[in-house]
Amino acid sequence: MPRVSRIGVFTSGGDSPGMNAAIRAVVRTGINEGLDMFGIYRGFEGMIDGQIEPMERTSVSNIIQRGGTILKSARSKRFMTYEGRLQAYENLEKHKINGLVAIGGDGTFTGAQLFEKEFNLPVVGLPGTIDNDLYGTDFTIGFDTAANTVVQAADKIRDTATSHDRLFFLEVMGRDAGYLALWSGLAAGAEFILVPETKTYIENLTRLLKHDMRQNKSSGIVIVAEGDDMGGAYDIAKQVKERLPEIDARVTVLGHVQRGGSPTVSDRILASWTGFEAVHALMEGKSSVMVGIENRKISFTSFDDAINKKKEFNFGGLELARILAL
Ligand code: F6P
Repeated sequence: MPRVSRIGVFTSGGDSPGMNAAIRAVVRTGINEGLDMFGIYRGFEGMIDGQIEPMERTSVSNIIQRGGTILKSARSKRFMTYEGRLQAYENLEKHKINGLVAIGGDGTFTGAQLFEKEFNLPVVGLPGTIDNDLYGTDFTIGFDTAANTVVQAADKIRDTATSHDRLFFLEVMGRDAGYLALWSGLAAGAEFILVPETKTYIENLTRLLKHDMRQNKSSGIVIVAEGDDMGGAYDIAKQVKERLPEIDARVTVLGHVQRGGSPTVSDRILASWTGFEAVHALMEGKSSVMVGIENRKISFTSFDDAINKKKEFNFGGLELARILAL
């Protein structure tokens, strides 16, 4: 494989705060190494459509603090076809791009891995998702910011919940993963946290709520991950109200507010450090690996493992939340 000298960087899948900081780190590290850097817009979609532009040091000025992604993001159906991937490869060839940095989640890495195998083009990944569901990194870029957004919302809800003696069901993102619900729930002192990783039993929940009422707890917050097996916050609140009509319950669905905003210090540092390492990894001949940070050290995990291995869920955290909220 020829030495990587022209690198394309792109963001793909759901955006996350800190992606811009990662793009900045990749572009500036490459330029510092004397490489030619390119931005690919709209992820795999833009690769297929040839939306590729050279990037200079100043192309990434003043973005470290901005949420979203200046390169834009998309989920691409066309990239799932061989014709789509071939078109993408031909566009990269036009710019003589011989290395890629992919910033995204497992869907992004799945596409990138296939592309690398088919066209022998090295790809290194950066974990960019608010879900924190990737094996091989303690945290993903955007997770900390999203968790802080949830906590700020929960703190505000706590004020009105206490004033009106109400129980709030607060739905947070996490179609398949409960890390955001767990982390933010712990930090917000939520009374209950419902996640896809555990089965939710409505009878257990109502029994515990009754117990809380007997302890003179007149208000509370239940954080519900959107992918909980019992449904979203509206469904669960409805079932609780049917069983405990005396509870004054309300529902808040936070939605995409969790995906935006200026990244926290943790996310900026994670993005900057892993972005820097991604370029060096490509230069050293690494490919089909995700750069992460584990136990405060840079680590490389094969795309295979990052996609297929399940990150260990901290079940003790659910218990901890419950004990501390008593
Ligand atoms: O991948 C992050 C995520 O925020 C999930 O938690 C959520 O279910 C999904 O993206 C929503 O994606 P979309 O922006 O396509 O609605």
